[in-house]
Amino acid sequence: MKIGFGNDHAAVELKETLMRYVSELGHECVDFGTNSTDSVDYPEYGLKVAEAIKSGEIDKGILICGTGIGISLAANKVPGIRAAVCSEPFTAKMTVQHNNANILAMGARVVGEGLAKLIVDAFLEATYEGGRHQIRVDMLTDIENKYKE
Ligand code: RB5
Repeated sequence: MKIGFGNDHAAVELKETLMRYVSELGHECVDFGTNSTDSVDYPEYGLKVAEAIKSGEIDKGILICGTGIGISLAANKVPGIRAAVCSEPFTAKMTVQHNNANILAMGARVVGEGLAKLIVDAFLEATYEGGRHQIRVDMLTDIENKYKE
């Protein structure tokens, strides 16, 4: 798969570690920045990865900020994006199986490197189950459509 990475200044080191790890797993990685610890604004990087999924440039995204929350909120503003903040592997697996999540978000100030790798494994190995879950995912799209200008 082609995996896009986006992060703010709080997560440069963890992003670099995870990009190496995901490459070693055999995936192609695309880096949307930031690559500096100078303070930046997380919505910019959440948006870049979300738009790359929308355009088909990447298959899935991994977003990291201090908590994973701000950057996921930004990505989730883009229709069709389902970004889930996960701090352990179970939810990372379930959010793909049940919510068809296309972005994993994590907090670099929340999870360590070892746990983050397990969360990434769970996210990348999981498969969307469809079936009864599709009705609910379609309802998310209905909400997006309701508020489209
Ligand atoms: C940056 O200090 C911090 O606010 C950001 O990384 C993130 O945690 C926001 O949700």
